[in-house]
Amino acid sequence: MDKISRIKDKMRELLTLKRYNHTLGVEKVAIELAHHYGADINKVRKGALLHDCSKQFTLTRMHELCDCDETIKTYGHLGELLHGFAGSVYAREEFGITDEDILNSIRYHTIGRRGMSIVEKIIYVADAIEPSRTHEEVQTIRRLAYENIDEAIIHEVDRKMEFLIKKEAIIHPNTVDMRNWLLHNRKGEGINELEQRI
Ligand SMILES: [Fe+2]
Ligand SMILES: [Fe+2]
Repeated sequence: MDKISRIKDKMRELLTLKRYNHTLGVEKVAIELAHHYGADINKVRKGALLHDCSKQFTLTRMHELCDCDETIKTYGHLGELLHGFAGSVYAREEFGITDEDILNSIRYHTIGRRGMSIVEKIIYVADAIEPSRTHEEVQTIRRLAYENIDEAIIHEVDRKMEFLIKKEAIIHPNTVDMRNWLLHNRKGEGINELEQRI
């Protein structure tokens, strides 16, 4: 059995049916986006299939698994958002994934980060637009995903941030930093140059 089949079998055991179907939807969209942007198909498939691998774990188990630094682990109440960090450790331990690009795509699919690779961006966006997603903005983000993936991420982050602000919930600085990075790139201006100017 090849590695992809083994990962799929294990995900079917680990996840609820709904979450497993979401995972297959993310894989499908991620493959399409990888073709579109010339990204590594094998990497995005593994990232997509494993991105939520620790989603059904208890918070205690997620905390035990996390290898993120303490600022991420303890920043506010990230709660289940830690499943990205826990998932990357599980993916390495359980499936022998050592490729940092795949691991980062799992690790940061929840809070994002500045400097995401194309593989990370694809998993981030595919998670937001896979076929079972039905939120109001999904059609716009689906269209943007193929026009300009950075714009799709900005749109998705704006949507998430509006939701979090309404709930008076904590927004992790990684998410704000990723948005700022993408906005500066949009203007053709690196964040370092901007920081120097300020
Ligand atoms: Fe997730
Ligand atoms: Fe997901």
